[in-house]
This record gives sequence, C-alpha cells and structure tokens, in this order.
Amino acid sequence: MAAAPERESWRPEALVGRKVILRRHRAENLRSFTRWYSDPEVARLTRYQQTPLTNDEIQRFFYSRIMGSDFLAMAIHVRETEQLIGTCAFSQLDGDNGSTLFHITIGECDAWGKGYGTEATELMIAHAFSSLALHRVALTVFEFNSRAIRAYEKCGFVVEGRARQAIFRDGRFWDEIHMSILLDEWEARVPGAR
Ligand SMILES: CC(C)(COP(=O)(O)OP(=O)(O)OC[C@H]1O[C@@H](n2cnc3c(N)ncnc32)[C@H](O)[C@@H]1OP(=O)(O)O)[C@@H](O)C(=O)NCCC(=O)NCCS
Repeated sequence: MAAAPERESWRPEALVGRKVILRRHRAENLRSFTRWYSDPEVARLTRYQQTPLTNDEIQRFFYSRIMGSDFLAMAIHVRETEQLIGTCAFSQLDGDNGSTLFHITIGECDAWGKGYGTEATELMIAHAFSSLALHRVALTVFEFNSRAIRAYEKCGFVVEGRARQAIFRDGRFWDEIHMSILLDEWEARVPGAR
C-alpha cells in the first residue's frame, strides 16, 4: 500500500546535497551498521559507555529505531559513488513544541573530515524547518569531540548549555555540550529560506 502523501514528505525518499544524498534506510544496511557500532572509536565519540554495543543491541536498535517509527532516520550516501557511509536521525519529534533532537554518525572513519557530516546535517536541518515546520533542532555532543562541534557550528548550531563533567573518558571528566539552532537563526543563514 502506498504511504499517505504527508507521510512521504515527512520521511522523504531522498534529500539531495552536493556531496551526499540521504536515503531511507534499507534492511541490508544492518551489515554496515553492525560494523560501525562495533568500532571502539565510534563508541568513544558517541556512547556514555566505554564499550561498543553488542551485535544483539545493534540489531534491536536498528529494527526498533532506525527502521521503525521512533526516529526519522536517513542513511548517508556519498552522492557520486552511492557508498553508504553513515546514518543521521531526528528523535523526540515533538509537534506540540516544534522541536526535535538530532543525531549523526558517519560510521566509515575514512569518510571523516571530508565535509559529508556538515552537509548531511544541513540537509536534515533544512528538512526540519522547511518541511516538518519545526521551530528548534537540538543536539548533545561530548566536549572532546572537536570535529563534531566544529561541524555543528558550521551549520549554525550554538552552545546553549553544558552538563558539567557528565562523561568520564580517557582518564578524566568532560562536559556534555548542548547545542541548538532555531528557525529564525536558520532563516537568517540560508538565502531564500524565508
Ligand atoms: C561528527 C561527524 C558527523 C562530522 O562529520 P565530518 O564529515 O567528519 O565533518 P566535516 O568534514 O563536515 O567537518 C569537520 C570540521 O571539523 C574540523 N576538524 C576535523 N578534525 C578536527 C579535530 N580533531 N579538531 C577540530 N576540528 C576538526 C574540520 O577541519 C572541519 O572544519 P573546517 O571545514 O572548518 O575545516 C563525523 O566525523 C562522525 O560521524 N564522527 C563519528 C561519530 C560522531 O562523532 N558523531 C557525533 C556524535 S555527537
């Protein structure tokens, strides 16, 4: 059965950028997912726990959240080659208050630092404000994740607070940084957004 039109625009088939294209996840993406989330460096940057998820946990996460309706999740592909490199998502979509929480993981580490994450984030923010009519997109990031913080700043996220010393990693405590971007800030940045 075809999805209702409003559902189609809510979870689009694709969001197209210059370097990346975001597509809906497919069941076969679980294989890449399992590899990404078994990587200790990905765990270090994204998890409160020191250890990566187990295969069972990855599978449960993938089917309930990524393929299910809890998250609006999109797979990140390099536009030129179609290589699947990561995943990004909105969780806690709150229509009453017009807000959501953004998550991104480029699981292929050799794809880091090439502008893919920044562009994927920009595409998701544009979708949030222009199609989902949201008012605010928020995220959290560990203080030591400088690459992620830089990518978010490039997209217009600003620091709105910190959970002090919330994460113990590499032998010391670090803050968890809370960032967000509001609709009017996005409109002021993006030509033609208004
Ligand atoms: C965070 C992530 C999405 C960023 O995407 P990316 O494609 O790697 O980042 P981009 O290339 O778009 O931008 C990175 C920016 O940080 C800079 N940067 C890279 N490494 C850096 C470092 N160690 N310290 C500071 N800045 C760094 C880059 O120079 C670039 O900024 P510039 O364009 O001004 O030069 C991606 O690296 C990723 O998924 N990492 C693993 C999981 C993760 O950390 N997820 C986020 C959890 S909150």
